[in-house]
Amino acid sequence: MQTNNDAVTNQRTDLQQRFTDLLPAPHRLARRSFLRSLGLGAALLTPAAGVLNGVARAATAAGSASNTINAGDAAILRFLAAAELLETDLWQQYTELATGNDAYMEAIEVIDDDFPQYISDNTDDELSHATFLNAYLSSVGAQPVNLDAFRTLPSSHATGALQIGRLTNLMNLTVDTSWWIRYRSPQNADFGATFPQLINIVNRSAIPPHDPPTGKEIQAIANTAAFHFGTIEQGGSSLYDSMSVKVSDLTVLRIGTNIGGTEVFHFAIWNDGAGNVPSVRVRGLTFPDIATVFEGDPLREKDLIMPEPCEFIDANLPLCSVIRPTLVQNAGAMAAVTALTNSGLFSGQSQVFFQTLNALAQAADAAYRICN
Ligand SMILES: [Fe+2]
Ligand SMILES: [Fe+2]
Repeated sequence: MQTNNDAVTNQRTDLQQRFTDLLPAPHRLARRSFLRSLGLGAALLTPAAGVLNGVARAATAAGSASNTINAGDAAILRFLAAAELLETDLWQQYTELATGNDAYMEAIEVIDDDFPQYISDNTDDELSHATFLNAYLSSVGAQPVNLDAFRTLPSSHATGALQIGRLTNLMNLTVDTSWWIRYRSPQNADFGATFPQLINIVNRSAIPPHDPPTGKEIQAIANTAAFHFGTIEQGGSSLYDSMSVKVSDLTVLRIGTNIGGTEVFHFAIWNDGAGNVPSVRVRGLTFPDIATVFEGDPLREKDLIMPEPCEFIDANLPLCSVIRPTLVQNAGAMAAVTALTNSGLFSGQSQVFFQTLNALAQAADAAYRICN
């Protein structure tokens, strides 16, 4: 019988394989190994120089992905592909350490025994999103997105981290935890509401930068990660809803709503899991005992994880339990880039990186639905 340790070791082997074996995938591979091979291969085959030159053109492809999409739909899919590449990069770092660094894995498992598995699977899902979106763009004659030129940020030096260039930086994060209260509130940011932080996590590491920290320090790092997971996935949930209502093509709409649903699925898991972080205090950061400190507070109580009905469409209509926010100015591509940038996720990135990401985001936000 396979033990949990065996499973983690297998995941680890898969992960290393992804970066060391670029040969074509064998015909018979486990689903997740196949996705990893496919994703990296696709990324490497895409010319980085064309990252800003994509223009959707009419095309009829053989097979099921035959379609023609307009420039707005292509711009939306291209930004989503970029977002998924960034997500994959950060989740990849979490997987390496949650499955390959004993101290971090133990601290993560204090929150939930299943978290290393969930982290690894979330990573696979993001990779599948990025790979699919780029493949779909190519299938309709549009330019896919390649961010490989920006894999320049350093890795953690802790045991378990591969020493490769990264797109994202998980070691200086200011984690927005206001989603915890936003989803427990009957108010909606799309109607102007703002929400306070549940916990102030300012300029902290969500992965161990090196070996060791131990004890309280590593638990504070793991707790920071547990909230960052939810922060990332609630952002993805809002982003996909925001973009989906602007597309013109029915297949592109299907792509947006189907992938977006997975982001919501992820968020729900991390929303529930974050409530289990143990109480810990280190210099500059305090995680309270969420179960007891916030008991009786409807905006903070641990078990209130179902999205509270809130304002939606029109304040005169009944409250409705929905993803929020979803207006472009609050949840669209530039809003996502701004939030991620402000969180420190791109600390150390080049000006060209920000110019590239902003251009992709502005094009996506400018797209609008065209009805024939
Ligand atoms: Fe995703
Ligand atoms: Fe995601």
